[in-house]
Amino acid sequence: MTPVLRTPRLTLRRPTGSDIDRLLQLASDFEVARMLERMPHPYTLSDGEAWLAGIGSDPRRTDFAIDDGSGLIGGISLRGLDETPVIGYWLGRPYWGRGYMREAAGAVLGGLFDSRDVAQVEARAMTENTASLKVLAKLGFEDVGPAECTSTACGQTRPARRCLLDRATFHRLMTGA
Ligand SMILES: CC(C)(COP(=O)(O)OP(=O)(O)OC[C@H]1O[C@@H](n2cnc3c(N)ncnc32)[C@H](O)[C@@H]1OP(=O)(O)O)[C@@H](O)C(=O)NCCC(=O)NCCS
Repeated sequence: MTPVLRTPRLTLRRPTGSDIDRLLQLASDFEVARMLERMPHPYTLSDGEAWLAGIGSDPRRTDFAIDDGSGLIGGISLRGLDETPVIGYWLGRPYWGRGYMREAAGAVLGGLFDSRDVAQVEARAMTENTASLKVLAKLGFEDVGPAECTSTACGQTRPARRCLLDRATFHRLMTGA
């Protein structure tokens, strides 16, 4: 079950059928899709419906809608919950540059570490994705070396960085200790 998490500006909640219009509008932006491994481009109604229909069907995965009060503005996924979880995220372009992802991902990671016996979380970001690498660094992720990300939208594999976050580092950063 997807918990509801709140931050000063955002709510993280389970995506629902009523998110479909915002999802299609924001996810169909190539500048969003090209940085992601699994987001198709163009992003069609059936892509959106298939994603929403799959929510909650895999116990190893949790998906959150990021909601600023006006509706869905992006998403965060946690995959591989039975091993080292992997976080993925995106924001619609109108919502970039406001520090939203650090706030949203911080809440999701806090909820994950509080609710499960997880030692580490993994993330991968393309080397060219400076904004994402900065978000990861601010959350306490350590760059542990080169990796690759295959972008479905581009049909290309790009150089990337593999990053790991451990529980102690995250809590130290979040509590300012
Ligand atoms: C990556 C993404 C989630 C960042 O979220 P965000 O909330 O907009 O991030 P912020 O606005 O807090 O920016 C993070 C930092 O990157 C910097 N930044 C943003 N774009 C940049 C760019 N093109 N070049 C250099 N720095 C950049 C910001 O100035 C900020 O730096 P600061 O923390 O020192 O002020 C968002 O841009 C996005 O969804 N992009 C498309 C999908 C994607 O890339 N997902 C991640 C895949 S790994």
